[in-house]
Amino acid sequence: MLAAIVGARPNFIKHAALAPYLPDDTFLVHTGQHYDYEMSRIFFDQLEMPTPGVNLGIREKTHSAQLGKMLLGLEKVLVQYDVDTVIVYGDTNSSLAGALCANKLALKLVHIEAGVRHFNRSVPEEVNRVLIDHISNLLMCPTELAMENARRESCFGEAVLTGDLHYDLFLKVADRLKQQLPSLIADLIGNEPYFLVTIHRASNTDDLRNLEAIVKALLTLKQQIVFPIHPRTKRALELAGLYEIVENATHIHLIDPLGYVDFMRTLIHSERVLTDSGGVQKEAYFCKVPCITLRNYSPWPETQINQWNQVIVPDVQSILTAVEKYPQGEQVPGLFGKGTAGVTISAAIHQLRSTSR
Ligand code: UD1
Ligand code: UDP
Repeated sequence: MLAAIVGARPNFIKHAALAPYLPDDTFLVHTGQHYDYEMSRIFFDQLEMPTPGVNLGIREKTHSAQLGKMLLGLEKVLVQYDVDTVIVYGDTNSSLAGALCANKLALKLVHIEAGVRHFNRSVPEEVNRVLIDHISNLLMCPTELAMENARRESCFGEAVLTGDLHYDLFLKVADRLKQQLPSLIADLIGNEPYFLVTIHRASNTDDLRNLEAIVKALLTLKQQIVFPIHPRTKRALELAGLYEIVENATHIHLIDPLGYVDFMRTLIHSERVLTDSGGVQKEAYFCKVPCITLRNYSPWPETQINQWNQVIVPDVQSILTAVEKYPQGEQVPGLFGKGTAGVTISAAIHQLRSTSR
């Protein structure tokens, strides 16, 4: 069997793009890392993905406890289902657990979105990605830059330039995105222009200085703001006593996280996106919406071309200054492939499974 391990929102979205190209003996394992309906089940319901064969339901708070429990749970499942090859996506703790477990069981390992770096090792996701890359048999690199990183680090596995699964999925739904706004958003803002905001990084939610600065900047902005709020951010705002202040601001519309197509529709119609998400930076680029990244490094430097993505320190003045700036030229086409990442990845996996290591 081929096992795909998922656990968090960006994992589900990448899997939704790849699933149609995976063989019939694919088995999906959900670690349970994300569990709210809007963070998990909504993607299976709306993106025509098979529901996971197993959900481990792991909800530990600390990263070590999360990883430990995931390893124990995954080991049982991978052995029970006689898995020969494991796929993991991106940089989440679920992906690291899947990768380590595959390695300990001497299974073949495929890393989707390999080679992506922002070169800041204080960020847990960067460490996860580096560790996974160095034990993978196949490094599925979405961009030329990711290929270069994988080569420079002399990872032992084979690096393949695949294109980006988020881009595949974007092209697949692109026709539906131009349609009107989701009614929820239209009811909130009518025909007014608006900014879209997403925040969830530890560096912004757990660092009170950054959290306060972002809130202050959002309160200062004159534009309407649509803010689908990650549960982690909601909790952080509540703890800091800021949630009510944001909720009471008439130009800020706090809503639950959206399903993928509704989110992308809200993104493509927005004037700007302010985010600390990795995936959203790319999707803003696909939608040709100028992006402001609220942390001073990006795993997707490709998107910074001609200031389509301004990567800034999240202090009040930098945010307010960035909002006044617009892209200074065209985008470069083709940076994220041709919408055929799923086909390329599936062929590489087929080849890996037909050869002995
Ligand atoms: C994780 C990933 C990050 C990814 C993000 C996507 C790691 C280390 N980080 O970060 O790379 O960008 O997912 O969204 O894996 N929570 C809920 N309900 C949920 C999910 C989370 O309430 O459905 C709350 C819980 O309090 C939880 C906290 O959010 O403790 C953080 O969740 P966690 O999965 O640990 O990290 P993310 O910040 O979501
Ligand atoms: N996304 C979504 N609904 C939302 C916010 C984001 O479907 O309310 C999608 C978005 O389109 C992107 C993915 O979630 O594909 C990015 O996940 P996230 O920002 O949680 O994680 P990251 O990419 O930073 O790891």
